[in-house]
Amino acid sequence: MKKIIITGGAGFIGSHVVRRFVNTYPDYQIINLDKLTYAGNLMNLKDIEQRPNYRFVKGDIVDAVFIDELFSTEQPDAVIHLAAESHVDRSISNPTEFVMTNVLGTVNLLNAARKHWTGRYEQTRFYHVSTDEVYGALAMDSGMFTETTAYDPHSPYSASKASSDHFVRAYHDTYGIDAVISNCSNNYGSHHFPEKLIPLAIHNIKNNKSIPVYGKGENIRDWLWVEDHARAIDVIFHQAKAGSTYNIGGHNEWKNIDLIHLLCQIMDRKLGRAEGESAKLITYVTDRAGHDLRYAIDASKLKNELGWEPSLQFEEGLEKTVDWYLNNEEWLNEVTSGHYQAYYQEQYAKR
Ligand code: NAD
Ligand code: DAU
Repeated sequence: MKKIIITGGAGFIGSHVVRRFVNTYPDYQIINLDKLTYAGNLMNLKDIEQRPNYRFVKGDIVDAVFIDELFSTEQPDAVIHLAAESHVDRSISNPTEFVMTNVLGTVNLLNAARKHWTGRYEQTRFYHVSTDEVYGALAMDSGMFTETTAYDPHSPYSASKASSDHFVRAYHDTYGIDAVISNCSNNYGSHHFPEKLIPLAIHNIKNNKSIPVYGKGENIRDWLWVEDHARAIDVIFHQAKAGSTYNIGGHNEWKNIDLIHLLCQIMDRKLGRAEGESAKLITYVTDRAGHDLRYAIDASKLKNELGWEPSLQFEEGLEKTVDWYLNNEEWLNEVTSGHYQAYYQEQYAKR
């Protein structure tokens, strides 16, 4: 019997990880610890919320006393840590919040793990979910990020994630905590908050609003189906050696503008519009400050050592993603109107 705290389980990737663990491991107890910020939405987990091996706990990882008490009462065997402020543009407007949640929140969890797992580090695990953005930016033709690429973060978001990665490694090296880290490329799929490029573009195309493309649209991202990321986390959680790091990526690089054109074609077809209609919504806007040119992940270590590979071709994954958004209008309306927050805040205030 394993008890696992998954932080940030109400968010985009976290909800896929929670769903995968709840469905795949009925004998594990899964505790979803989430503050329910604007990005946390319990609607994401409606299908599994009644499962006997699932529980939700509302809480803030920045609150060290609360985290310590949670470890005392729950005595978890493992943490899979996804809770974070995750949007680069928000980090440019409000860096401090990223330091608080991403750095201090991670250190609070590490302190609780260190204290409550003393004497049984071998039976416990701290899994830290991180990003490829810690490696900085690649030139157009300059290879890929590997696990040994030097950290070189540029945005306040990536600086905060890099810092949290360093703390996780420091707690492994200094105190002997069993810790593993994975650094993943851009995810896409269902339940993605519509401030990020793909769900924002789908939402705007559907509503005939402009699609904001930063700069010339030439920046490159390496896109991975979110369920493949959740599967990689499962594999690494169960098989990786303590202290190890794995890169996770899709081997799937796209220039933003090419991706948007592909999305416009799919949307034209699905919405019964004339070919080229949605592309008229493309609007070039001021570039993101410090915009990283290119990310690309070399995930061969994960393939060679643990046998993981992406399962979906991008075109197929993008079609599925568009279908999900078109079939889940209620989710999109709740999120864009902010209703989901008011509803769940009220539910938990009553308790
Ligand atoms: P998200 O913004 O969709 O979700 C973050 C979740 O964390 C939300 O549910 C939010 O309520 C919760 N949270 C935020 N602050 C909290 C706090 N102080 N206490 C408790 N909970 C809090 O994020 P995401 O895109 O799902 O990313 C999840 C993790 O994966 C992050 O650590 C991110 O850095 C990493 N990551 C994301 C991507 C990507 O493409 N989205 C790629 C690689 C790595
Ligand atoms: O690489 C992993 C990272 O991917 C994660 O660590 C982050 O949490 C996640 O948000 C994502 O970061 P990006 O900044 O790459 O994702 P975003 O969807 O914000 O932007 C993708 C690209 O599209 C980027 O080059 C900026 C551009 N963009 C974004 C938005 C929101 C636009 O051109 N227009 C937009 O409106």
